[in-house]
Amino acid sequence: MFYFGVDYYPEQWPAERWPIDAALMAEAGFNVVRLAEFAWSRLEPAPGRFDFAWLDRAMDVLAARGLKIVLGTPTASPPPWLMQGQPELFRMRADGTRLTFGNRREYCPNHPAYHSATQRVVSALAEQYAGHPAVIGWQIDNEFGDRCYCPVCAEAFQGWLERKYGTLDTLNERWGTVFWSHVYSAWSEIPLPASTGGSPNPGLALDFYRFASDSYAQYQQSQLERLRAACPGHFITHNFMGFNYDQLNYFDLARELDFVAWDNYPRTQWHMAGSVTPSAAALGHATMRGLKRRNFWVMEQQGGQGGWEMLSVAPRPGELRLWAYQAIAHGADAIVFFRWRTARYGAEQYWHGLLDHDAVPGRRYAEIRRMGAELAHAGRHIHGAQARPAVSMLLSYDSRFAFQIQANNPQFSYARHFHQIYQALHDCQAGVDVAAPETDLAGYKLVIAPALHVLGEAAAENLKRYVAAGGWLLVTQRAGVKDEANAVVNQRLPGLLAALCGVEVEEYDSLASDMENGVEFCLPGLAEAGRIPVGPLCDVLKTTSATVLARYTDDYYAGQPALTLNQYGQGQVVYAGAAGGERLYAALVGWLLEQVELKPPIAAPRGVEVTERWQGDRRLLFVLNHTTAPQAITLDQPYRQLLDGHAPLKGQVTLAPRDVLVLAEAEEDLAEPVAA
Ligand code: GLA
Ligand code: ZN
Repeated sequence: MFYFGVDYYPEQWPAERWPIDAALMAEAGFNVVRLAEFAWSRLEPAPGRFDFAWLDRAMDVLAARGLKIVLGTPTASPPPWLMQGQPELFRMRADGTRLTFGNRREYCPNHPAYHSATQRVVSALAEQYAGHPAVIGWQIDNEFGDRCYCPVCAEAFQGWLERKYGTLDTLNERWGTVFWSHVYSAWSEIPLPASTGGSPNPGLALDFYRFASDSYAQYQQSQLERLRAACPGHFITHNFMGFNYDQLNYFDLARELDFVAWDNYPRTQWHMAGSVTPSAAALGHATMRGLKRRNFWVMEQQGGQGGWEMLSVAPRPGELRLWAYQAIAHGADAIVFFRWRTARYGAEQYWHGLLDHDAVPGRRYAEIRRMGAELAHAGRHIHGAQARPAVSMLLSYDSRFAFQIQANNPQFSYARHFHQIYQALHDCQAGVDVAAPETDLAGYKLVIAPALHVLGEAAAENLKRYVAAGGWLLVTQRAGVKDEANAVVNQRLPGLLAALCGVEVEEYDSLASDMENGVEFCLPGLAEAGRIPVGPLCDVLKTTSATVLARYTDDYYAGQPALTLNQYGQGQVVYAGAAGGERLYAALVGWLLEQVELKPPIAAPRGVEVTERWQGDRRLLFVLNHTTAPQAITLDQPYRQLLDGHAPLKGQVTLAPRDVLVLAEAEEDLAEPVAA
């Protein structure tokens, strides 16, 4: 069943309004609502005293319209009675100051008193709704994140380290605490990397970031176990924040959940550009699908203009539908819009839902109702269809954390670097999985490891196995520099990858903002591009067994290898020593896709995104016109339009601005047109 719905906060509106809302939801084609995720103070108005009557009533009203229900556990927004007089429950910032009451997500994820209050409310909810016929699943908390530096966390961190390292001798050796006289002789001496007055020990800092991530995974686990025990028939998920969120290891957070859900806001007050970058949301989807290598939900799909203190650009006609179909194109099996009606009160007065404050259905509602009608039919053909990308990009949270600790260069951002390469793949319509470096890579034709800075034996062996068996691998600059304790390896760089890449890094440069270098390819087809600017990070290479693909053009290392190609077993490895921009990755990715013989599913102009999903053997094509002009594509085989009564399509087809086609390879069971 394809779920299509909306996030609803009945507690924020008079009960007399609920039936009208439910009717409008049903009319929009919705079949699911998410409820209760911020309702703790209404569910448990005083410690241990629960009031489910209002929620029962709201659920009855919604269920009467055929809506299924996902319940949020309300722990992201604790009630005042819990936090008052207990300052130690509040999260502490790195500077030692505590949050105070009045926003949300203010709690320490390790505090025992917060855990027991959590258990009480989650248990009560789970028992109340385990057998409710409309409830299908749970979302735990809301958008976990933010590191806590409080004394409770400090002590928990020391315990975490003791379990990890066993002995202080091991920890001291791995972190190199002899430097600046940090040799620890008791676990209790180990600090947090907070107000140390400057750069902390990189080993300590990386472990703390891992610990902070684990803290949320464990806190989630404590809720998950309660819910699993009480509600065996329900799914359990959490709403993640896509590729951009960088404080949690999302692979860990996803592990025990049934599937990943995430919150997709292509244009908000933080993204004030006049147009959105389609590859940014696409990378979010690829990452969220990659966490468990399975389809996902969008639990909050942008439903209106974003804004707290500022107002973002209002979604243009067609954008909400386009962005929601883009999610589906990348593997969403459910779309839930945020939110139903725009709040009149509170911090999100300007965060718009499908309806404005006045609740009069308007342009956005009409657009989504159209989508509801389309999915009422097409949803069953789409649901469960698999993405089968031939390319994988390796996302290393260890490396990402390490760059947070030591950026290497103020102009360098791991996330931007990753996105730039993804963008080049996206421009070529290459389907991409985002995977952890230890994931089994068999089956991919091309694997890309951007700035794999922190690298353990297991991941290095994994890459070797993949290449030896015939895969193509792209490794980019500053790879293999650190071991898993964030110490620099005792080897020539790229460390554990040196033999695989067939190069040694002779030296590495980090350019100032007013400097650049360049590279020139020596490959036919690419040489004509001439000098391509690169920077700010430049590994100067010496080949051992690799051949040279491109050389630096400037400065004292002009003429030395910048990009190389090495045969390893049955496969090939490119080492890109120079970090670059759009031109470098367009050239390099284009060449790599040719080498592995990956072609776009169909020819499409720039700004038209095409993805594939597979329903068994049947290929579905999603064609998304992200531009404001009509765009033509050519279909060289017959398809049926799933959003338009199975109308047949072949040859040249024009998409209206911001329009979407969902196409299925024509087959017997689709031959008969159906009423749209
Ligand atoms: C997040 C949260 C929502 C809401 C929206 C809009 O994704 O999960 O509760 O705050 O952003 O701000
Ligand atoms: Zn804490």
